[in-house]
Amino acid sequence: MRIVLLGPPGAGKGTQARRLSESTGMKHLSTGDMLRGEVTSGTKLGLLAKGFMDRGDLVPDSHIIAMIQQHIDDPAGVLLDGFPRTVVQARALDTALEKSGTPVDQILHMSVEVDELVRRLSGRALCGDCQTPYNLESDPPSKTGICDRCGGPVAVRNDDKPEAVANRMKVYQELTAPVLDYYRSHGNVAEIVATGSPDEVFEKLSQAIRSGKSGVMAN
Ligand code: AP5
Repeated sequence: MRIVLLGPPGAGKGTQARRLSESTGMKHLSTGDMLRGEVTSGTKLGLLAKGFMDRGDLVPDSHIIAMIQQHIDDPAGVLLDGFPRTVVQARALDTALEKSGTPVDQILHMSVEVDELVRRLSGRALCGDCQTPYNLESDPPSKTGICDRCGGPVAVRNDDKPEAVANRMKVYQELTAPVLDYYRSHGNVAEIVATGSPDEVFEKLSQAIRSGKSGVMAN
């Protein structure tokens, strides 16, 4: 299966993709996590990407497509988190999957009000090693600054500063919202209202995947 989690910054894509990966055995592919890994390793791509990421702008399509292409054919199936983020990327994904004969099965669109997104991002911290997200108010690590999952360092992301968050919301509306229209025209989008507790959102997403249907799921 190929499932795309689509939604604005802070919608909970990473949180839920990790949980769904554990429950389904599908591979979690996050372009944001991959890019942060490149930045930490100081690769050529990481050096190029850092400026775009810190400002909250998108990294150019050609670099993203080249980075993810080799990973989308995982036999366990993939949960795509943060990709595609432009119509150019969505078309490139369709072309790559046409070659392997395994099209995108389902788009899970996670919607959350802007005020709640800003609240979530302003409290977020992330493990620098395994990328597990935390919320310093509602879901902190058990030991301050230390990841429950891998023991790595937990810190606030550069792009969660207010100016970068505002730009990420604008970029989402301008460049990523059209991806939703692109997929809606294909008719395989399930609408998930991604508010409520992480457990409740997980149940809505799991239900949508089990049913395999598009349309508005249990809100
Ligand atoms: P990326 O890492 O993909 O960032 P994003 O899409 O902005 O998404 P976030 O990671 O901010 O949010 P999320 O939806 O995953 O929410 P999370 O689960 O963390 O990309 C970063 C940058 O990389 C981009 O800006 C761009 O520069 C570049 N990039 C990446 N992909 C690219 C691409 N395809 N093309 C070009 N450039 C690309 O949750 C957020 C917080 O909320 C956490 O604290 C969490 O604990 C909390 N939370 C989650 N669910 C709930 C809930 N139900 N209730 C309360 N709190 C919750």
